[in-house]
Amino acid sequence: MAVSISSFTEAMSRVPAPVTVATTVTPDGRAWGFTASSFCSLSLRPPLILLCLAKEAESHLAFTRAGSFLINVLAAEHAPVALHFARRSHRKVATSGFVPCEKGLPGLPEATARVACSTHSVVAGGDHSIIVGLVESTYVSDRIPLSYCDRAFARPTPLGPDDAGPRKEHDDPHSQGTADLARRDRLRSR
Ligand SMILES: Cc1cc2nc3c(=O)[nH]c(=O)nc-3n(C[C@H](O)[C@H](O)[C@H](O)COP(=O)(O)O)c2cc1C
Repeated sequence: MAVSISSFTEAMSRVPAPVTVATTVTPDGRAWGFTASSFCSLSLRPPLILLCLAKEAESHLAFTRAGSFLINVLAAEHAPVALHFARRSHRKVATSGFVPCEKGLPGLPEATARVACSTHSVVAGGDHSIIVGLVESTYVSDRIPLSYCDRAFARPTPLGPDDAGPRKEHDDPHSQGTADLARRDRLRSR
């Protein structure tokens, strides 16, 4: 038997997520945007990302038919921007202060990062569509990113050395251990 929706959403509320605003422009010149936490990296070669958009969203047709779109990764001070783009309004982009950025698409100049994509594919995912983007260009700033966890906006705080505990060589079998990295640095400095 499938899990109840409340148990599912309760569990997912414990998963910290990024907060982004995806934008696109349709051939009639209309700009679209929505707040999306379902943004993540998908593939390195080729560089792919994905985000999920509810089929019932007003912007669903615009994004699933779009040739390109721009992901704006919001910074810690951008909770009002996230709320603005989580509303239903035809004038969201026009009233947002976003300006033409990568590919001429509406972007937030003070974003933590921007990821400009051409649409790679659109895959069905229950009541959402999974939009896969081929990353064409990126912009990165040093602004602290906004995150969403426990149904609230949050600011990630790096752990201090005491919180993280001593790093063990076998923590991550895919990464080079600190001893390996130190050895590499010694070899390079010779
Ligand atoms: C923090 C946050 C994250 C959200 N993430 C998503 C998401 O990943 N996918 C989605 O379809 N809606 C998401 N939403 C809801 C949409 O932003 C909202 O339904 C919006 O009205 C859709 O815009 P539209 O109906 O104008 O297209 C999120 C809302 C918030 C506040």
